[in-house]
Amino acid sequence: MLSSLKMATNPLKNMMGSKVYHHGKMSAAAMSSFQATQGKTITCKAAVAWAAKTPLDVTDIQVAPPAAGEVRFKVIANALCHTDIYTLDGLDPEGLFPCVLGHEATGIVESVGEGVSSVKVGDPIIPCYTPECQKHDCIFCQSPKTNLCPSIRNTQGKGVMPDGTTRLSKDGKPIYHFMGCSTFAEYAVISEMSAAKINPGADMNTMCLLGCGVSTGWGAVFNNCKVEPNSSTVVFGIGALGLAVIQAAKASGARKIVAVDINSDKFELARKLGATDCVNPMECEGGSATSWLMSQEKWGYDYTFDCTGNVAVMRQALEIAHRGWGESCVIGVAAAGKEISTRPFQLVTGRNWKGTAFGGWKSRTEVPQLVQTVMRGEMDISPFITHTFSGLENVNKSIEALHGGDCLRAVVHIADSPLEPTKLPTLKGNVRCEGGYMKQLSHWSDSCNCEMTFSVFLPDPPSRTGPLPPVLYFLSGLTCTDENARTKAQFAQEAARVGMAVVFPDTSPRGVDIEGQDESYDFGSGAGFYVNATTEKWSKNYQMYDYITKELPQLISNLFPVDGDRVSISGHSMGGHGALVAHLKNPGTYTSVSAFSPICNPTESPWGQKAFTGYLGSVDAGKEYDATELMKSYTGPKPAILIDQGTADGFLEKELLPGKLSAAAAENGYPCEVRMQPLYDHSYYFISTFMREHIDHHARAHGLRPKSNI
Ligand SMILES: NC(=O)c1ccc[n+]([C@@H]2O[C@H](COP(=O)([O-])OP(=O)(O)OC[C@H]3O[C@@H](n4cnc5c(N)ncnc54)[C@H](O)[C@@H]3O)[C@@H](O)[C@H]2O)c1
Ligand SMILES: [Zn+2]
Ligand SMILES: [Zn+2]
Repeated sequence: MLSSLKMATNPLKNMMGSKVYHHGKMSAAAMSSFQATQGKTITCKAAVAWAAKTPLDVTDIQVAPPAAGEVRFKVIANALCHTDIYTLDGLDPEGLFPCVLGHEATGIVESVGEGVSSVKVGDPIIPCYTPECQKHDCIFCQSPKTNLCPSIRNTQGKGVMPDGTTRLSKDGKPIYHFMGCSTFAEYAVISEMSAAKINPGADMNTMCLLGCGVSTGWGAVFNNCKVEPNSSTVVFGIGALGLAVIQAAKASGARKIVAVDINSDKFELARKLGATDCVNPMECEGGSATSWLMSQEKWGYDYTFDCTGNVAVMRQALEIAHRGWGESCVIGVAAAGKEISTRPFQLVTGRNWKGTAFGGWKSRTEVPQLVQTVMRGEMDISPFITHTFSGLENVNKSIEALHGGDCLRAVVHIADSPLEPTKLPTLKGNVRCEGGYMKQLSHWSDSCNCEMTFSVFLPDPPSRTGPLPPVLYFLSGLTCTDENARTKAQFAQEAARVGMAVVFPDTSPRGVDIEGQDESYDFGSGAGFYVNATTEKWSKNYQMYDYITKELPQLISNLFPVDGDRVSISGHSMGGHGALVAHLKNPGTYTSVSAFSPICNPTESPWGQKAFTGYLGSVDAGKEYDATELMKSYTGPKPAILIDQGTADGFLEKELLPGKLSAAAAENGYPCEVRMQPLYDHSYYFISTFMREHIDHHARAHGLRPKSNI
């Protein structure tokens, strides 16, 4: 009952009609252009490979509507991958012609077949050639060890959709699908199991790279090999895949990253992305880098990667892996009929040979998270795009570019996206903390009309496919920034233990030019009071209520791997007031609520009176931001409110007035527990003392711990 109410009133879900913040915005015209084609066959341009070793023919084809469980989408951008060329060059024995190639793309859903529920019309997606059925009886999807879901493997390999037929044709002649994607076209049809829904503010012209090459390189390091800090690595073949491996190895803390390539032009970027050494085998004695590599590391390398597809290189990579434990990962795709070999002794003496498909990523679950990681500025994909073309008719030019030695990825921009990319945040900090990461970002705020900074603690996920963590918003008090509570409240150990993300917003707009904003500690900068100011002077920027309850939560749930539908709120002093008000004004949005020494009845306190007069024009106008006033008429769901208040708090009598709130709560039958904590004051020593119990309160409400039996 509570949870259905929660869904219905969640502001993150019901943004239509009100201002939509930091979100790709789809125009009505774009939506109706999709409606015009739904249920109909679309005739559009595609680059058809009629046979191996022939140039692609850019011609009109027919794309049938999606059948049950399928998704048709408008292709926005497509990057060329070597696997496309390898098939076009006739090297893939299972290559089927005629077909439409392409599998590194982004698109917008135009229509969906019967039963499709994970994406809807207008959603931005990355089609994934490694599907993820996510079914409970799929032992592959359920295993953390693999991403190789076999659900549609047979038909995908035969170039058809799961029902055994194709959606692509030209004048009645069927055309095969390729890798379950076929994105060298204006429209494509894929299985719902292959459609990863991504952040609507993502830049569709670059994110296509996450559909194959770059993700694969990163995943080989993070998932398949799990490279540890201080390890030694060698990467053979410094194309897009090899560079992605280098980037990820650096992010993993590898101490030595050797780049090996027969083309020395590759080394400059390799060094930039993290290679510590570069070697060209052609410049080594005998044309092999082995003796140079072994002269560097006596027993070999902890992790080696083949990104060439050459079986002789694969053998070399295995044989330079560390005696006793080295792992060698095959990423390159070898030509038809090729086999790998080594002496069994190499394995007997502890080397491990492994490989990767799409970097081990569980596509629908994890590709959206990779998009978020890139959008947060934690991994850079821009160096990979060396060539761009506009218009599908230029697809052959992109193939020529790829055959030249200086191309990593050539992106063909096929159609303009109806979604506008959001302005990206700036990553200011990202440090390890208590089994998670403490991140600090700044971003342009549409509600406050200025750059705002916030911090977020993200606990390590206990599993790759488990539920995402709920989010606790912690609002700070007067004079604070996002940094006070994250540093002094000692929340992280417990938040990491229960698996809860914690967001620390700032307490006011910053860097704006309003006369008098810095004159007092309890008004203006550092004292936004979590209201939407209405007076002329303050209303342009001081929209902290909208910022805290709408804009920031939407940003957080789009940009971080968290469950934006499961949110809680807490805060201290002015922030305690903010938390109570955010809850009481948005019944059902917050699963749980707590506060430390909140300003409970601000229309009766000097701090509140000053703020309301300044921001809203009168104390009376402040009643709509007064927890005690709101409590009197509150009718929504009533999650228990936990309040801690120190008895030695110098502000208790004049400013905080918890008794007023408890009286109003009692009158309304609202469970609100005010715990008077003897001898504690108003400081962070008080907060840190009881923080563990507040995290526990929220964790139990989210079912992260058994509910207490009270
Ligand atoms: N496993 C997967 O899921 C997966 C996904 C995508 C791509 N791939 C494969 O990964 C491989 C790399 O892809 P890419 O896009 O980076 O290719 P690329 O052609 O851009 O890069 C290959 C690099 O290897 C170098 N090279 C070639 N022979 C070499 C040798 N003998 N020694 C050292 N360097 C050599 C080339 O100079 C080039 O820089 C391809 O085989 C591709 O098909 C695999
Ligand atoms: Zn690929
Ligand atoms: Zn599956």
